[in-house]
Amino acid sequence: INHNLYKYEGFWYHQGFWFHSNASFSIEVIMALQDEFQAQPSNVFLASHPKSGTTWLKALAFAIVNRAMLKNSTDSNTVHPLLTTSSHECVPFMETQSFLNNPYHANDLIATHLPYSLLPKSIISSNCRIVYICRNPKDVFISFWHFMDKLRDNLSPPIKLEDAFELFSRGVSPNGSCWDHVVGYRKASLERPDQVLFLFYEEMKKDPKNEVRKLAKFIGYPFSEEEDVDEEVEKIIELCSFEKLSKANKDAEETPKVIPNDVLFRKGEVGDSINYLTMEMVEILDKITLEKYDGLDISF
Ligand code: A3P
Repeated sequence: INHNLYKYEGFWYHQGFWFHSNASFSIEVIMALQDEFQAQPSNVFLASHPKSGTTWLKALAFAIVNRAMLKNSTDSNTVHPLLTTSSHECVPFMETQSFLNNPYHANDLIATHLPYSLLPKSIISSNCRIVYICRNPKDVFISFWHFMDKLRDNLSPPIKLEDAFELFSRGVSPNGSCWDHVVGYRKASLERPDQVLFLFYEEMKKDPKNEVRKLAKFIGYPFSEEEDVDEEVEKIIELCSFEKLSKANKDAEETPKVIPNDVLFRKGEVGDSINYLTMEMVEILDKITLEKYDGLDISF
């Protein structure tokens, strides 16, 4: 499950090129980015620990920024073709080789799984905006376990929940520890709320209208407060809903997928981890969460 992970500056990474040539989250790429990546003040970074709702955040931000184009969509019941590719192509990950070849990326929206402390320095100094999405670590873990299990090749045995748990709870997972990842961005958002917006997956599920408005305002594409604009906000929420996005991506067969559709979209619910974790596992994860997030005003 987490073979060949190495600790680099306090977080766990693969060495060499893992996954896919366009999505190689590896120490080599991260190190090169530190020196070579030049952020532009107009960039908006969408940051997350894996399995925290990255794809959803990317789609929402993309839909907000491009809403004029989406509005012209002829059939409001189908997802605009632009959104079907937004998860990977339209909002690329910074930790990819393409960024090394082209540090001045044309798109202002850039996703990253890098922890705050490993972001290229130009991101902090250029004062561009960062949006972070955080999710209950129990749900992150279960989502991650399913994800890794679905990605395994047919020759490997299924990943045991207990084995995955043992590593995850010790912080050993790609880009982990999950808790330290959150803490870095949370502290930054408390210190510099103008630069870092901290969102919760659970809040987005509970009150998407409010959260989408908050996101739009922060990234420089605010909705007006008028009532009739509510409809526009609702349309974006609907376009980026789990049901629509998972279906849209399935429909876009012509786009080769870095990660298959059913792996990227599983359930999209809050609290599903309770169906898998033992009481003891829940206690352990809750204890770590309480300790790590102490004083940071994070609760689930
Ligand atoms: P589950 O495995 O719990 O279903 P990431 O995009 O960071 O990899 O996170 C993946 C998780 O977000 C998965 O959680 C996935 O189903 C969920 N997800 C994807 N799209 C979503 C959406 N539009 N709304 C809510 N959850 C979504």
